[in-house]
Amino acid sequence: MPLELVGTRPAPNTDSPLSIRGLTVSYGEKPAVFSVDVNFHPSQMTAIVGPNGAGKSTLLKAALGIIRPLSGQVTSLGRPLQERRAQIAYVPQRASVDWDFPARVLDVVMMGLARELGLLGRVRASHRARAMACLDRVGMQGFAHRQIGQLSGGQQQRVFLARALAQEADLYLLDEPFAGVDAATEKAIIAVLHGLRAEGKTVIAVHHDLATVAEYFDRVFLINTTAIAEGPVAEVFTPDHLQAAYGGRLALAQMGGAAAG
Ligand SMILES: Nc1ncnc2c1ncn2[C@@H]1O[C@H](COP(=O)(O)OP(=O)(O)O)[C@@H](O)[C@H]1O
Ligand SMILES: [Mg+2]
Repeated sequence: MPLELVGTRPAPNTDSPLSIRGLTVSYGEKPAVFSVDVNFHPSQMTAIVGPNGAGKSTLLKAALGIIRPLSGQVTSLGRPLQERRAQIAYVPQRASVDWDFPARVLDVVMMGLARELGLLGRVRASHRARAMACLDRVGMQGFAHRQIGQLSGGQQQRVFLARALAQEADLYLLDEPFAGVDAATEKAIIAVLHGLRAEGKTVIAVHHDLATVAEYFDRVFLINTTAIAEGPVAEVFTPDHLQAAYGGRLALAQMGGAAAG
């Protein structure tokens, strides 16, 4: 059982599709995420922004139960997150995936249906058709029978997004979906994400390019091990808050984007 390090905390927000209370995660002695409280807003696109090593990926993985936190409570619409796991799609950071794994594009997309099919569920033509429709949405319908390892980085990222779409989730968590992709893929991905928002879905994405935060997102959550601020882009994406998140690395982050991690 995760223990509470900090005393009284506000009750979980039951409207929030992802409500995090007192989350602390440590790989060694120094916490990678410390005592984070944040309520992500429904039907909005929120960017998670912070320097390299700020704990952004760790926050998502711990929220999803992929890694075990030291302490903290994570709820979705007032329920323990694991109860709503089927409605939550996750696109991991591309660099963290083993692309030599022998799998066809269509099979990867079908993995998005795994929870629905269960262990013994039969794959029907309708499931394949749904997976193909998801490939179509990301412009990859012509690649269904390719090996995933043979695709470019941008194409792989599109396939992972298609897998998330196949799940028909209502909350989408993406870890740096634009890292290492070409401009056409970035445009295609953002169009899909904005489409999800238009359907009322919630999208939360780790994002490292400060230059496109205001164009792409409604809200920002700034983090550097501890939570700095969360709110509408116009209120949170300010020089003071960015200075607090990036410190001396801000100039570098603004120049390069990629340097910000
Ligand atoms: N598997 C791991 N084992 C040990 N340390 C890790 C591991 N993953 C991440 N870290 C460390 O935790 C901190 C946060 O990492 P991470 O969540 O990946 O940051 P971000 O995604 O913001 O770049 C970093 O200092 C990183 O080196
Ligand atoms: Mg990361």
